[in-house]
Amino acid sequence: MKRRNILLAAIIFPAVMAFGQQYGGMWIPTELNEKEMKDLGMKISAKQIFDPAKPSIKDAVVQFNGGCTAEIISPQGLLLTNHHCGYGQIQKHSSVQNDYLSDGFWAKNMGGELANPGVTVDFITDIKEVSAEVLAGTQNLEGKAAEDLIRTNLEKVQAGFKLEPWQKVVIKPMYYGNKYYAYVIETFKDIRLVGAPPSSIGKFGSDTDNWVWPRHTGDFAMFRIYADKNNRPAEYSKDNVPYKPKHFLPVSIKDKQENDFTFVFGFPGRTTEYLPAIAVEKIMTDTDPAMISVREVALKTLDEKMRADDETRIKYASKYASVANYWKKWIGEVEGLKKSDAVGKKKKYEQSLIAKNPQVKTTIDGLNALYTEQAPYALNRAYYSEVIRNAETLSLANQYLNFMQSYEAGKTDDKSMTSLKNRLASFYKDYDGALDAKVTAKLLALYANKTPQSFLPTNFAQFKDENANLSLIEEWSKNSVVSGRKSLNGATAATDIQKVFANPAELVKALKDDPFIKLATQLRTSYMTSTEDKYAQLQSQIDVLQKRYMAQQMETDKDRPFFPDANSTLRVAYGQVKGSNPRDAVYYGYQTHISGIMEKYVPGDYEFDVPKKLIDLYQAKDYGIYKDKTGEVPVNFTATNHTTGGNSGSPVLDAHGNLIGLNFDRQWEGTMSDINFDPRFSRNIMVDTKYILFIIDKYADAKWLINEMKIVK
Ligand code: ARG
Ligand code: GLU
Repeated sequence: MKRRNILLAAIIFPAVMAFGQQYGGMWIPTELNEKEMKDLGMKISAKQIFDPAKPSIKDAVVQFNGGCTAEIISPQGLLLTNHHCGYGQIQKHSSVQNDYLSDGFWAKNMGGELANPGVTVDFITDIKEVSAEVLAGTQNLEGKAAEDLIRTNLEKVQAGFKLEPWQKVVIKPMYYGNKYYAYVIETFKDIRLVGAPPSSIGKFGSDTDNWVWPRHTGDFAMFRIYADKNNRPAEYSKDNVPYKPKHFLPVSIKDKQENDFTFVFGFPGRTTEYLPAIAVEKIMTDTDPAMISVREVALKTLDEKMRADDETRIKYASKYASVANYWKKWIGEVEGLKKSDAVGKKKKYEQSLIAKNPQVKTTIDGLNALYTEQAPYALNRAYYSEVIRNAETLSLANQYLNFMQSYEAGKTDDKSMTSLKNRLASFYKDYDGALDAKVTAKLLALYANKTPQSFLPTNFAQFKDENANLSLIEEWSKNSVVSGRKSLNGATAATDIQKVFANPAELVKALKDDPFIKLATQLRTSYMTSTEDKYAQLQSQIDVLQKRYMAQQMETDKDRPFFPDANSTLRVAYGQVKGSNPRDAVYYGYQTHISGIMEKYVPGDYEFDVPKKLIDLYQAKDYGIYKDKTGEVPVNFTATNHTTGGNSGSPVLDAHGNLIGLNFDRQWEGTMSDINFDPRFSRNIMVDTKYILFIIDKYADAKWLINEMKIVK
């Protein structure tokens, strides 16, 4: 079996290269390369994927809560996304008594579905290129003059759209501002939790397996979109009814074969494929390592207490997972950039462009000089932002600081105050001051030790010792509004934020005396004066040159198929189901099976435990219609689709537009694909639809959900 795969890979690989996939690609759905997709095996037309006038697959794909992607899989608005995308919601409904994170949650019927105030999904109903209108008159302008005219033009274009009351238009720059596209968006606001497996399925392998192949994670959760009686978006109401979609995805449980055509339809967040070599080098040697080092310290400290204490585990579960996620990704990214010689490749590419177009040299020289000048500021920016993000007490202090500044400038209003209070209240709900004191103490020491004095507040050298920091912070905490322990108006911020804000003038006065506010102010001031202004000023010069460099790449490199970097807009990536050969003599198959879960099983382990019922099903081989040709249930598979963060939860479709998988990750050796896609190593990882249905049907006994779907056998 393995041997055959290797042979197949050897035969197929050159074929993929010939199809122009060597750069990856996340394409705007109105500009698909239909011919190449059909050559790779697609049986439907590009119009069936995206048609603004008629129901098409796009009507089943939504952006989930501003970050992930989700898709509709029933005529009643049933929504599928990743467990890790719904994690925050699952956590919010969980407590030590009702631990849906550990045990899973399955509504018995629609009445049992759980509301999630604030959660939204966005449909894209139309896409229009508006470059000519937005860029009109700017050809000979630069800098602020160009920006101002573009802003005026944008407003004009925006106002020109005829919209229904429930629609809005968002215009996004593409190719670093060389083009502009308008998106018509409909936002639904009543999104209810329907089902989620236990974390031992939905997050199986947790951080150890995250970003790693071979994988065995059932990373899915289900929600439902509710609408008003006219099937339109509405705020939550018990009178709302399940949304009737224009299109929903049939779910295929056919066996997969290596080289099957697939495409991923979703909202990739951010890539930077067109940077100059110097920028990639700085990411690799400076900013990624800095951010990794801060997170490493935070994660270690949290982990100790989370393992020892259930309440802390639940409180910090979602935050920990999100900090750990990019920490690990950056490590993989740095390795991958080195291994694929991204900098060397980019340098060669720059020389080849210069040979064809001498003007490119001026651009590259300019970018080299600017990135070199910016490097120390970029490094401090990476440290500062990560320290503030991970030292929670300081990030809390910063929120209060923002409030103090707008209050004193007379700029607070009811709306901003309500949202601040809500934000703070939910922050304190999941905040453990004593635990964070340890994190903050260590991060202050790290920052003081790693950063040149010219970037730091005077006397900051006193923070070089983490033990001394801890004693100081513990002392400060006792008498601080920020830490949630000093009471104001008879309440503390941790227990009753409304009371603490009842008299804003008094609050501001108390905050001015707060030791954490004082420290945060010093840190912010020194950061702003030493770094932020300079960084931003250099960045705006870089932006001008990067826009020019992008245009020059497109004019000069006529053979390369260009797609715009990801920017959280709707895209299609396509490729083939495929394994890989990531290292000498190592071959990765394209699919894992349920027996692999049992190979990894460590009873009682926080990452690799397996629920008893799943073990029972495995032992009884009770797989129903969900096994494949091997006689087992397939769990995850890989393909050559170019994806990134934001593609989590994206539908993976077959040649006919049926759902075959749920995107949730990439493999370690290919995570540099955000900067340098390499077809040899870059693979997206998906949950097999057979495993999803198997868990819903056999594990959760939620047949009522299966009955809603259209299953393709
Ligand atoms: N790596 C995947 C993504 O980027 C999954 C993350 C969730 N899992 C985790 N262990 N943190 O989002
Ligand atoms: N897990 C990622 C997400 O949350 C998707 C995987 C990737 O970055 O490719 O969007």
